[in-house]
Amino acid sequence: MGRLAQTKCFEQTKDDVMAKPLRDGTGPRHVAIIMDGNGRWATNRGRPRLFGHHAGAKRVREVVEACPDVGVKYLTIFAFSTENWKRTQVEVAGLMSLFRRYIAKETRALRDRNVRVRFIGDRVRLDAKLIQLMDDLEKITEECTGTNLTIALNYGGRDEVTRATRRLAQDVYDGKLDPASVDEETLPKYLDTHVLPDPDLVVRTSGEARISNFLLWQSAYAEYEFIDTLWPDFTAEEFARLINGYGARDRRFGGVNA
Ligand code: IPE
Ligand code: IPE
Ligand code: MG
Repeated sequence: MGRLAQTKCFEQTKDDVMAKPLRDGTGPRHVAIIMDGNGRWATNRGRPRLFGHHAGAKRVREVVEACPDVGVKYLTIFAFSTENWKRTQVEVAGLMSLFRRYIAKETRALRDRNVRVRFIGDRVRLDAKLIQLMDDLEKITEECTGTNLTIALNYGGRDEVTRATRRLAQDVYDGKLDPASVDEETLPKYLDTHVLPDPDLVVRTSGEARISNFLLWQSAYAEYEFIDTLWPDFTAEEFARLINGYGARDRRFGGVNA
């Protein structure tokens, strides 16, 4: 039983909140989260933005640990976008240092919890030390069979599709791919997410109702939840409520359900 399952909230609402998606398979298999609001959370407390990022990083563990309890097999989190380089040098450097520290600190715990970690995004602009830590974490958790945690770092949906298109074009040029054979199954094979299912539910915290270049291709038919909670205040209980709410949605994919 996970930590979430031991909480009071779980005891009170176990059957309707947590167990239901597990029992009847109506829960989302893949949840993607745009973890937004760290800066405002810090500003509200009269603290520098990086204070909010540190508080935000601490919430990740709780949500990852809750995944098995709520039947979420894939969790993808947006940590840094291709647009976030526009921030001050101090904030960007602080975030990169936070990522390095977070990975170094969490690697063992993630492996011990059977969490398989992958990174998506363009590594080219990241520093060598960080890339090494990312590679190590992926390698160390390679055999893990529990939750699949994907961390989007220097990720942008347009950038991902652009990089994928470049590789696809190269394969055509090299004679490995016939342009006439390109269909909707082809491009996803070139995306960073090629081993992942599409997200069923995309959550954005902090009250902003936009997707900010996250998983553009993959989320074409995702359900969306835009919630007001700032990311550092997000809890496993709120996560469970969102999972439960998803179960009540009617996904039609353009068709008509009986
Ligand atoms: C999300 O929080 C974290 C990153 C984008 C790295 P923000 O830093 O965007 O927080 P707000 O939106 O300014 O409150
Ligand atoms: C999206 O949040 C990126 C991450 C959560 C990492 P932003 O705060 O960067 O998005 P905008 O600028 O409000 O669209
Ligand atoms: Mg933001």
